[in-house]
Amino acid sequence: MNVTEAVRQRVSTRAFLDVPIPRDQLADLLETAQRAPSGGNLQPWKLIAVTGAVKDEIIAMAHRTLGANPGGAAMGDRPVYPDLNAVDPIYNRRRKSVGEMMYAKLGMPREDHAGRMGWFANNYRFFGAPVGLFLVIDRRMGHGQWAHMGMYMQTIALLAHERGWGTCMQEAWALLRDQLHDYFGLDEHHMIFAGISLGAPDPDATVNHLYTERAPQSEVVEFRGFD
Ligand SMILES: Cc1cc2nc3c(=O)[nH]c(=O)nc-3n(C[C@H](O)[C@H](O)[C@H](O)COP(=O)(O)O)c2cc1C
Repeated sequence: MNVTEAVRQRVSTRAFLDVPIPRDQLADLLETAQRAPSGGNLQPWKLIAVTGAVKDEIIAMAHRTLGANPGGAAMGDRPVYPDLNAVDPIYNRRRKSVGEMMYAKLGMPREDHAGRMGWFANNYRFFGAPVGLFLVIDRRMGHGQWAHMGMYMQTIALLAHERGWGTCMQEAWALLRDQLHDYFGLDEHHMIFAGISLGAPDPDATVNHLYTERAPQSEVVEFRGFD
């Protein structure tokens, strides 16, 4: 597999097989991911990988905290999205569009609130993945370093794809930043940014066959001075 294939093939995986990921293989992936670039080579990321009983404890804690209605939880001081009504409406359209595409794959129409909410709660089970990764950042870092964290995350996702594993990045865990902070015993400066579910994708799960759209290049890219 070359890089172009990996980039084109990677999709978010939201259903996993019950197959463990050996620690040495995960360590090897993360060793390579450490090559992700960052401004000033700050490498402004830390990562906590969980599996087994630790992962189960986090799942139980999530369900104790959020109950059956994770959508109602408060977001804290770093919301996942800005006010999408205050920016170009295209962003909200894209967000809604991917949601509808995913729920169509799951056979859950708009009126099926309970079904959709139940599905969303799967975030807090790592979608059944054997491994959960938590991205940790020093809260004193600025917007640049948050972007560099993204380089690290995409590098992890591509390396996972190369190994036949799937990933789903999960800012859903932002709802539990305080609880995770306490659970992991992070110092006052560190906070959870997001999680990543990692494992072997379930090839039979229709949700894993969602190949999301992207804006046409003309909406995103400007070429200047080329001709
Ligand atoms: C930082 C980040 C956070 C995300 N958080 C979630 C999440 O909490 N739950 C989820 O199901 N998908 C989450 N996603 C996945 C996006 O919905 C997905 O990347 C996007 O719709 C494009 O689809 P693709 O990854 O299949 O190409 C997240 C993606 C990123 C990059």
